[in-house]
Amino acid sequence: MLSFAPIKGFLGTGATFGADLNLIVQILMGVALLTGGLLAKQKRYKAHGICQTTVLLLNLLMIALIMWPSFQQQVVPVFPRVFRRPYYSVAAIHGALGIAAELLGLYIVIGAGTNILPQRLRFKRWKLWMRAELMLWMLVLVVGAGAYYAWYIAPTS
Ligand code: HEM
Repeated sequence: MLSFAPIKGFLGTGATFGADLNLIVQILMGVALLTGGLLAKQKRYKAHGICQTTVLLLNLLMIALIMWPSFQQQVVPVFPRVFRRPYYSVAAIHGALGIAAELLGLYIVIGAGTNILPQRLRFKRWKLWMRAELMLWMLVLVVGAGAYYAWYIAPTS
């Protein structure tokens, strides 16, 4: 798997290039999702669907290239002792919530945007689920930023 680990980052925190890139891309994607939420409020559903699906798929790439390899290298080996230190527990909680957010997002997109799922497996109260997904995503974003802080900013300050 492609890894940016040895390349230095550009935000001046001592983080890797991959972590800095991920932080910036994640913030931009968070803004895109909130903007996509506004599109839905304005009943521009097609644009809303395209916006949210693009972010969801782009994030699969960020997970596959940056976050999953980092999770495997740094968090999985210390399991189940991760909860003894905030350094690891923030990333472990982030990873667990991140998997839930990505899976729920995929389920919503498949249910709302395709005919793959039979009617009985699609959400009835889809607005509620989309709102819940957006809130979960924002929580994952904040906890992810917390992991960045715990890994790269707190140790040097
Ligand atoms: C909705 C989905 C997700 C969002 C919004 C998100 C967001 C973020 C953000 C903002 C960071 C801080 C930047 C960084 O340190 O790279 C981060 C880091 C991280 N995330 Fe995620 N993430 C998501 C899903 C996941 C998943 C599914 C995993 C793995 C199970 C994961 C594992 C990690 C790890 C290990 C880091 C630290 C990476 C490093 O600095 O080397 N994330 N994430």
